[in-house]
Amino acid sequence: MQFSRLDLTSFVAAGILFVLTCANAKPNLIKTCRQGSRECFKESLQATVPGFTKGIPELGIEVLDPFIVDNLNLTLPGDLRINFKDGVATGFRNCIIDKARIVKDILEVQLHCNLTIKGKYRSSGSLLIFPIDGEGDSTIKCRNIKFMAFFKLGSRMENGQKYVVIKSLKVDHRFDGNVFYQLTNLFKNSPEMSKLVLDFMNRNWKMVAEEFGKPIVDYGVAAILKNIKMLLKNMPEKELSPVPLNL
Ligand SMILES: *[C@@H]1O[C@H](CO)[C@@H](O)[C@H](O)[C@H]1NC(C)=O
Ligand SMILES: *[C@@H]1O[C@H](CO)[C@@H](O)[C@H](O)[C@H]1NC(C)=O
Repeated sequence: MQFSRLDLTSFVAAGILFVLTCANAKPNLIKTCRQGSRECFKESLQATVPGFTKGIPELGIEVLDPFIVDNLNLTLPGDLRINFKDGVATGFRNCIIDKARIVKDILEVQLHCNLTIKGKYRSSGSLLIFPIDGEGDSTIKCRNIKFMAFFKLGSRMENGQKYVVIKSLKVDHRFDGNVFYQLTNLFKNSPEMSKLVLDFMNRNWKMVAEEFGKPIVDYGVAAILKNIKMLLKNMPEKELSPVPLNL
């Protein structure tokens, strides 16, 4: 039987969905997607999000929501050094997939999320024009942060089984909603200065996010990628997809 590329992608999504939900609804899911459409692929992928972000220990997939960030050191532009501890990021499970398709060997996925990162921070260096020396609690809320990801896919053989691999990934992000910063004690022992700079950050949230956001976003993307790779490493293509992919 011949299936078009779109049908194949739907099968993949349905397969992943089946595994992630561990439901016994496999025939229904595949049937739903047998007609094959981009809408169907997108919806299948969307349906995998809660299961995937909850973590799948059998497959080595970590919990991504809540995602624990413990002891992360970042050097942000302008030599602002941040140590982030006891951190937790939430919201990945509610990400909304806006677009998903496979063209040749490129999987393109666009999604947007509301993410909240909380934790204890320590900072030194300078933030924009302000010399910073702070230590306190932080909460950063990103509303409608948008990700545009392009996965270049390939395949590998192991013990006679074919597996899908990610050859490269390009991710762009954009802040569509606003970013809200709540940091206590930006300047040790100077509540006035702390408030002044915090107000400045919130008034200029976009500039601050664009200037400093990338290392944090990259960190989150790396964590998600690691877990997608784990999924692909532990699940042969034939379990992802009932029909072979042309990768
Ligand atoms: C981050 O930097 C602090 C202070 O320099 C250090 O104590 C800590 O071990 C570092 N953490 C990591 C994960 O490198
Ligand atoms: C994010 O929150 C805003 C405002 O509460 C809401 O309109 C939007 O739909 C949310 N987006 C997601 C991806 O949940």
